Amino acid sequence: MLRSHTCGELRLADAGKEVNLCGWVQTSRDFGGMTFIDLRDRYGITQLAFNMATNATLCEQARTLGREFVVRVKGAVRERENKNPKIPTGDVEIIVTDLTVLNTAKTPPFTIEDETDGGDDLRMKYRYLDLRRNPVRDSLILRHEVAQATRQYLSNQQFIEVETPVLIKSTPEGARDFLVPSRMNPGQFYALPQSPQTFKQLLMVAGFDRYFQIVKCFRDEDLRADRQPEFTQIDCEMSFVERADILNMFEGLVRHLFQTVKGVDIGTLPHMSYADAMKYYGNDKPDTRFEMRFVELNDVVKNKGFKVFDDAELVVSICAKGAASFTRKQLDELTEFVKRPQIGASGLVYVRYNEDGTLKSSVDKFYNEEELKKWAVACDAQPGDLILVLAGNANKTRKAMSELRLEMGSQLGLRDKNKFSCLWVIDFPLLEFNEDANRWFAMHHPFTAPWPEDIAKLDNPDAYGDIRANAYDMVINGVEVGGGSIRIFDKDLQAKMFGVLGFSPEEAQEQFGFLMNAFEFGAPPHGGIAFGFDRLCSLFGGADSIRDFIAFPKNNSGRDVMIDTPSVIDELQLKELSIKTL
Ligand code: AMO
Repeated sequence: MLRSHTCGELRLADAGKEVNLCGWVQTSRDFGGMTFIDLRDRYGITQLAFNMATNATLCEQARTLGREFVVRVKGAVRERENKNPKIPTGDVEIIVTDLTVLNTAKTPPFTIEDETDGGDDLRMKYRYLDLRRNPVRDSLILRHEVAQATRQYLSNQQFIEVETPVLIKSTPEGARDFLVPSRMNPGQFYALPQSPQTFKQLLMVAGFDRYFQIVKCFRDEDLRADRQPEFTQIDCEMSFVERADILNMFEGLVRHLFQTVKGVDIGTLPHMSYADAMKYYGNDKPDTRFEMRFVELNDVVKNKGFKVFDDAELVVSICAKGAASFTRKQLDELTEFVKRPQIGASGLVYVRYNEDGTLKSSVDKFYNEEELKKWAVACDAQPGDLILVLAGNANKTRKAMSELRLEMGSQLGLRDKNKFSCLWVIDFPLLEFNEDANRWFAMHHPFTAPWPEDIAKLDNPDAYGDIRANAYDMVINGVEVGGGSIRIFDKDLQAKMFGVLGFSPEEAQEQFGFLMNAFEFGAPPHGGIAFGFDRLCSLFGGADSIRDFIAFPKNNSGRDVMIDTPSVIDELQLKELSIKTL
């Protein structure tokens, strides 16, 4: 070993010891008689001291070291005169007697410190330098701990980790596939898996009974803060189970992770139906760290001459506690917020319930105080509160109100990153109609089982929208961290499901014949779930974006700017793959 200790290890008790340290030069301070260098490695920072009076040559040599040079030093540990209580090694320094430069370094394009001056693009281009910074490195260490704790819990529960293939078959359901041309089969393509869904079901047919995998998945979809084109799932499947068994098992996993990684007890998770989530939060992944539930006001506000409300399918409100003091400017900004095209509301009505008990609204012309009092009663508003109201088409208005609710939650400081509110959202609809494609799609995926009592509705297209899926999502702080379902395991029901989704029997056989054939060889009842591993890690780390929890992420255009990909392929390579250029 080139070193006897790490840069995070030495304490006062080590004073007098001869040590060897290796690391990167973080900073260098020259005081004429003395030169001090902060030496950094993964474990911490140790101060090196060079004395002009006792060893001028060495001191001169130390002064030539630039930021991020890689050095090895030998010296004695001694108690520091000016201690630094901010770092664990702050009581000691090394009086260096020998210095070797292991490698020089160009001046880094941004500072390697907790708060860096580097912008996003620059940090991504030099990701290996960004990874030297404490917060980024700590995020990856956290990721490692979550992975370890996951494997520990699932192995203890008899789950077996099995790897499934990465070159698979393209399927028309779900997001867009990433495709890989096959040289040996001209004109044919593999697809990268969006998830190992069908393989884990085949493992159940194979009798594996309890499977898991921490696995890369690939989806060619529009990117956001919580979406990457390649991301990682904790993918799981179990046989001979019902929904309650799955929810218990994986609530246990998440409880174990919170306990191990955060020291937090999340208690027993509540269940909320999809219908309630939409009705009270306008969202199938409600942020339940705060209440502010929707209150529908149709019965209270209609037929008073205000056309916007009279014509609306839905008039819905939220009550923001203590926000009556919002200024006119703040309320105007909220109105601008809801009118943004992404939110899509045509306007915002508000009622201030003043501390003195008076009520003042933006629609005083149509509603007197007596009327407004009824709104306040419906919303359970108290003096000091602010009622915000949106109206219009039911679905669009719920969606807009959901955004407004989250915005108010943020403005009122109700979305504390150190508070965790977890729940199961259950009973999703099995199918949703897509106007553009003019057909029904599986809301989760085509392998999800309907509730047994709803199966008959598969024969009646008018009832498709009412069929409930035996599916569930785990939601934490408004983030969908996991989703799964009890599966169809009967060939005929699976074939019927493909029919409902618009596949001809031949197409279904061609695309998914391997699964339906397997169902003819003794498929057990089964179900499972997959967690977004990157999302879980970023929640534990209190971050909004999953990027810093991925060692080498892609940017918002799906590019890796460090290795500069995707990139152009040369003609010869394309020819070999039987691909014609554009
Ligand atoms: P689903 O598509 O819901 O289910 O994915 C499971 C979880 O993966 C995470 N996730 C993502 N994370 C980062 N970037 C993305 N682009 C991305 N897409 C999804 C989410 C999500 O809850 N095979 C089924 C699971 C099952 O039925 O067992 C599946 O993949 O946190």
